[in-house]
Amino acid sequence: MEQVDDSALRGVIRKRILEKGRIPFVEFMTACLYEPGLGYYTSPGRKVGAEGDFYTSINVHRVFGRLIAREICRMWEVMGCPASFDAVEVGAGHGQLAKDVLDAIRELNAEFYELLSFRLVEAEPSLAEVQRTLLADHLPRLSWSPPADLAEGRLRFTGCLYSNELIDSFPVHLVEMTPAGVREVFVVADGDRFAEVLEPPSTPELEGYLARLGITLDPGHRAEINLNALRWLGSVATALERGFVLTIDYGYLAPELYGPMRRNGTLLCYWRHTIEEDLYVRVGRQDMTSHVDFTSLMAEGEALGLKKAWYGEQYRFLVAAGMMEEMMALEAAATTEEERLRIRLTLKKLVLPEGGMGDTFKVLVQAKGVENPRLLCMREWGQLF
Ligand SMILES: C[S@@+](CC[C@H](N)C(=O)[O-])C[C@H]1O[C@@H](n2cnc3c(N)ncnc32)[C@H](O)[C@@H]1O
Repeated sequence: MEQVDDSALRGVIRKRILEKGRIPFVEFMTACLYEPGLGYYTSPGRKVGAEGDFYTSINVHRVFGRLIAREICRMWEVMGCPASFDAVEVGAGHGQLAKDVLDAIRELNAEFYELLSFRLVEAEPSLAEVQRTLLADHLPRLSWSPPADLAEGRLRFTGCLYSNELIDSFPVHLVEMTPAGVREVFVVADGDRFAEVLEPPSTPELEGYLARLGITLDPGHRAEINLNALRWLGSVATALERGFVLTIDYGYLAPELYGPMRRNGTLLCYWRHTIEEDLYVRVGRQDMTSHVDFTSLMAEGEALGLKKAWYGEQYRFLVAAGMMEEMMALEAAATTEEERLRIRLTLKKLVLPEGGMGDTFKVLVQAKGVENPRLLCMREWGQLF
C-alpha cells in the first residue's frame, strides 16, 4: 500500500483519545474529513475529478447541471414567478455545478437569471477563491456563506437549496448489533494504530433512530446513522421561508439500506479512484462516505414542514427534466459520428443502472409553502416521448 504522511492528524486524534480514553467513531470521522487545515475536505488538494479520488455526476457532463437548471427555472414558475429568487448550493466544491447551472439558466430564461441571487455554501473556505474565478462571469448574481450561517440560523431565503453528494460526506455514528443490544463503535489508541471497541451508545438518539424506522438489526449487523443529516435538514427547514430543497445523492430507502444484504454497512473510503475498506489508514487523506437514508430525510422533512414533492432514481429525474432533448441538441451540434458516439457514451453514465450513476443515485425534492407543485421531474414518461 502506498504510504502517505498522515502523522499530523493522527497526532491530533491520538491526543484526543488519550484525554478521553476513547472517542465515538463519528468524532474520528469528523476529524478525518473536517479537521481545520488537516482533514480530507479542509486541506489543500483536488478531491473530485481525474486528479482527485472520485468522480461525481458533475464531472460527467455539463448536461447534469443544465437539467438541474431546467428544474430550478420550473420551480420559479410554479412559485408564481416571484420578483426575487434565491438558489443556494451547499457543498459547492470547486463551483463547477454552480457554473453549469448558472450558464444554463442565463441561456434558458434571461428574465429569471436577472432576478436570481445565487449563494454558495462550502465547508472548505479556500474554495471560495476557486469558485470566484470559475464563476467570474456570474459575479453580480453571487454571494457566499459559511456553513455555520446555515447551521446557526443566520440564513433566510426563498427559492431552492440544492446539493449534490453532500449528505454522504457527513460524519456518521457507527453501530453494531450484539447479543446484548445495540452497541456503538468507539475508536481507541492501540500503540501507534487506531482500534475499535464496542460500547453502549453515546446517545439514546441512535436507538431512537432505528426504532422510529421500525428496524431491528440482526446480531453482527453494522450500520451507519447519520444524525448530522437530520440536524442539517433542520437548519435548512429554518432557513427556507418558501420553496424547495433538492437533494441528489447515493442512497436507499431504510428497509433496503438497513436490510440483511448490507450487514457491513455502506461506509467506505476512496483514494485515487480505488475503494479502501480500512477506515484507519491514510487518516485525513482518503475520502470517507456512506449511503444516505432517504426514508429518514423524508420523515424528518415532514416533521419540519418540508413536504416530499418527489423522490426517485436520478435517471428518472434527469429524463423527466429533459435529458432526451438535451442529448438530441448536443448530437445535432456534433460534427462527426465519433463525437456523437462520445456524447451518447458519456450521457449513458448518468442514467445507466449497471455500472452507471442511474439508480443508486436518488433525487429527493421537498417543498415548503408551495402546494401541489407541478415540477418537471413529476412528468409521466408517456408525456416525454
Ligand atoms: C463529496 S463532495 C461533493 C462536491 C460537489 N458537490 C460535487 O458533487 O462534485 C462534498 C462537498 O461538501 C462539502 N461539505 C461538507 N459538509 C458541508 C456543509 N455542512 N456545508 C457546506 N459544505 C459542506 C465538502 O467540503 C465537499 O466540498
